[in-house]
Amino acid sequence: MRIVQITIASAFLCAGAAAAQGATTTTAAASPTSWRSIPTLPSDVNRGRKLLANLEDPNAKDAQKICPGYTAINVRNCPGGLSARLVLAGANCNVYGTDIDQLDLRVSFGPESRLNVRILPAEIPEGQESWYDTKEDYLTRTVKGVHFNPTDSELDFRLNSSPFEFSVVRKSTDDVLFSTKGSKLVFENQFLEFRTELPERYNLYGLGEVMHSIRLGNTYNRTLYATDVNDPLDENLYGSHPFYYEHRYATLKDGSRKGYAHGVYLRNLHGQDILLREKSLTWRTIGGMVDLTFYSGPTPAEVIADHVRAVGLPAMQQYWTLGFHQCRWGYHNVSDLKDVVEAYRDFNIPLEAIWSDIDYMDQYRDWTNDPVTYGLKTFSAFLDKIHADGQHFVPIFDAAIYVPNPNNASDAYPYYDAGLAADAYLKNPDGSLYVGAVWPGFTVFPDWSSPGTQDWWTDSFQKWYKEVAYDGIWLDMNEVSSFCVGSCGSKNITQNPVHPPFSLPGERGNLILDYPEGFNNTNATEAAGVAAEIETRNSANAAKAASAGPSPTSMPFVSQVLPGVDVRAINYPPYAIDHVQNGHDLAVHAVSPNATHSDGSLEYDMHSLWGHLEIGATYKSLLKVFPGKRPFVISRSTVPGTGAWAGHWGGDNASKWLYMALSIPQALSFSMFGIPMFGVDTCGFNGNTDMELCARWMQLSAFFPFYRNHNVLSAISQEAYRWAAVADASRTAMAIRYTLLPYMYTLFHHAHTTGATVMRALSWEYPNDESLAEIDRQFMLGPAIMVAPVLDQGANYTNATFPGGENERWYDWYTHEARNASEGKLVDLKAPLGHIPVFIRGGNILALQHPAYTTAESRKNPWDVLVALDSEGDAYGDLYLDDGESLVQEKTAFITLEATNSLLNVSRKGQWTSTETLSSVTILGVPKKPNQITFGKAKLGKWSWRENSQTLEVTGLEGVTKGGAWSKEWELSWK
Ligand SMILES: *[C@@H]1O[C@H](CO)[C@@H](O)[C@H](O)[C@H]1NC(C)=O
Ligand SMILES: *[C@@H]1O[C@H](CO)[C@@H](O)[C@H](O)[C@H]1NC(C)=O
Ligand SMILES: *[C@@H]1O[C@H](CO)[C@@H](O)[C@H](O)[C@H]1NC(C)=O
Repeated sequence: MRIVQITIASAFLCAGAAAAQGATTTTAAASPTSWRSIPTLPSDVNRGRKLLANLEDPNAKDAQKICPGYTAINVRNCPGGLSARLVLAGANCNVYGTDIDQLDLRVSFGPESRLNVRILPAEIPEGQESWYDTKEDYLTRTVKGVHFNPTDSELDFRLNSSPFEFSVVRKSTDDVLFSTKGSKLVFENQFLEFRTELPERYNLYGLGEVMHSIRLGNTYNRTLYATDVNDPLDENLYGSHPFYYEHRYATLKDGSRKGYAHGVYLRNLHGQDILLREKSLTWRTIGGMVDLTFYSGPTPAEVIADHVRAVGLPAMQQYWTLGFHQCRWGYHNVSDLKDVVEAYRDFNIPLEAIWSDIDYMDQYRDWTNDPVTYGLKTFSAFLDKIHADGQHFVPIFDAAIYVPNPNNASDAYPYYDAGLAADAYLKNPDGSLYVGAVWPGFTVFPDWSSPGTQDWWTDSFQKWYKEVAYDGIWLDMNEVSSFCVGSCGSKNITQNPVHPPFSLPGERGNLILDYPEGFNNTNATEAAGVAAEIETRNSANAAKAASAGPSPTSMPFVSQVLPGVDVRAINYPPYAIDHVQNGHDLAVHAVSPNATHSDGSLEYDMHSLWGHLEIGATYKSLLKVFPGKRPFVISRSTVPGTGAWAGHWGGDNASKWLYMALSIPQALSFSMFGIPMFGVDTCGFNGNTDMELCARWMQLSAFFPFYRNHNVLSAISQEAYRWAAVADASRTAMAIRYTLLPYMYTLFHHAHTTGATVMRALSWEYPNDESLAEIDRQFMLGPAIMVAPVLDQGANYTNATFPGGENERWYDWYTHEARNASEGKLVDLKAPLGHIPVFIRGGNILALQHPAYTTAESRKNPWDVLVALDSEGDAYGDLYLDDGESLVQEKTAFITLEATNSLLNVSRKGQWTSTETLSSVTILGVPKKPNQITFGKAKLGKWSWRENSQTLEVTGLEGVTKGGAWSKEWELSWK
């Protein structure tokens, strides 16, 4: 987590506000941790240089005006593609670095729908591309030694030699998808720039991680550089995903509209700015090479699946991870955890896993527990109990490793010593340890390129598991964050432990005073009290800002010489990206770019990959801790391919309606990036939530793949049982979620095997409907479920579009009543507090299981089948079954459900068996009362048909499915 620094003294207590909101149980605001009496780092340790970002500098040099571009020579066709030499077409411009005189162009087609275009310094042998390339081990290549016949490709590559320009064309339509026409390639050791033309009013999606609506604007700047920050809008965040897809709509000869989508992925994780302009997109990076992959689609779903397959199919999650998770920063001891688990049980709100933030640690050190508040005896007893109850525990784990004070024998920290012995830490350029500062004080940071790091990491997780029986790992702070600029602790480790250079939430001067929008309307008295506090705080902040000295303007200049390349300015590259941190300095709130790895590589080139490499190491460790089981890892920092190992949560959002609304496009973007296991801090992290927001949010998140409520230290409590209305809303939505778990799990199976998405934008399911291009206030879960949540304070209705044209049918989840498509129009839906509109799309069959308190119990419950017929009377569905946890499954089953001509046919493949019976089959869209219902040859007596909703319900099927609902193939007919 990251905290906004606020420094005033105030006596205001949040407890009153919590009570005023109608908290139903006792514990109000958690009291802040009483910090040990340790020195606090000076606040200026995190102050970098104040740089003018290139994008904000009106006098910035324009590389397009002053650079010469390249000329292509020796253009040659080679198996599966072509190659050429690019030579600088004039005098060096050295605009933001040193021009590379000669480049190699390597174009390769395929496999199938892909085209890869690489441009890199000439004559670097394959495999020895230094920091221009990223090792295959670190970041998957999209194209691997295939020789695909270019004539079989949907994409064409066209090259102009002088000046060097290229374009990528969709052959079937002759549409130019990407074209550098009229712009120059700039290729320097610390700066790359290329530009593509785009059509007017283009629909472009992706380029995350960012808080923004799903469709990015046509005048918009995106910066990518992993950073520890609390979800500011439109800025760079924790993860870097240089992938976009563009969706175009064309009119066909018959007058109908057809959508075509294609994707573009730049395999380059250097800091970068992407400039979206009215008719172009310019890509600028501060290093690396051009490694572009084009995906021909032509639907968004195909583009996304292709990209996901290219970077790495997402991990199959354990079944239990789809249950509901509760977390907060500020569960001060084991009995807090116990109280929460018990309260959920008392209020009959399903709880699958309880999480711990850094509270459980001994002085915030990894692989430890606080000997007093989280003493092993009580901690283990607690964990034994929840495990016996079928529940789980997931602790946070921080990226940085505490450095014990060498002058204090009682400050021993053996995990650090073991890492030191393994040579597992990042260094300064002079070979000394790089020492930053994070929660525990001065810290070092693992170096993933060092040969000893993995074993030390694995050993540590194995040792720790013997003490604390965790079920998964939550990786935080892995951008990788450090609270000071540079190796600030090099000379000061004898002061350890030290307090971060800012106050924690709830500490003097940093009380949580924020409430959701509209809180002043619903809770006027409390809001007025808070407003006065905020005013005091703001004026104190202003006074403090005025008295603070200017930022340092000079810092040691670090440079590095690589063979054959000019010296690079590592800490202050000549081109300043529009990085969100103060002064745009890359070293602020992060490990500095000059931190050095054992293989000689620098953070400058590896920065955004740090988290991904940590995830890989952790995944491997968990395979040792839980042999044969799918590791459960949730990480803050991510890159393309992270989904193969981990899920992601949306980071440090705020308890605001705006953030709840933005959670949908954020989730959809992670669907695009191949990280389907995504959710956000439900009810909001920073700031206080309120009843209404929390009720709406608990319902919305129930339809996200990863479902967790999480809260910041000292904010009012926000567990689902704190307000009666939130408890009701949660139980309602959770019952639907747990009923749908087999469906969600099947969606994950498809994601894992084909790259299909779990949470989906409407425009992916209806690629020809242009009216859906910006829709991100409603979404789909797989092909069958549409969710249209209330996202506005005070609203008791919402509006939604029902796509699909005149033959589409949408069935209300609750009433089973059908409605037709709304043809691009928004229709009002009643949605009082506690109701989330959910619809089933005609043509789908859902295999559902009766919900229970835990997922383990729900897996033992009877099944129902819900058949939602389309206007032709057809429907299709499938169901994937396995043991829910093994990495390699001995037995699985894949069930196919098909309905046509008043006959439901269930067929199966695979050996997995289970004994839960079938309880009912409900068929929606049956226009007239059937004469008889048969199951195989048996005539059934228990059924009813309702005329007003045109619903047929067949019950009492337990007898005919005694051996298990899915153990045999069967047929049910209604004629
Ligand atoms: C985006 O970049 C341009 C420079 O190309 C700059 O003029 C503009 O202010 C930037 N917009 C934002 C919102 O930062
Ligand atoms: C290191 O210690 C010195 C001497 O006490 C102090 O002036 C300096 O601010 C400290 N630096 C950090 C980063 O704590
Ligand atoms: C609540 O705050 C909003 C936004 O500041 C304001 O528009 C509204 O008038 C306020 N309502 C009341 C009752 O003060």
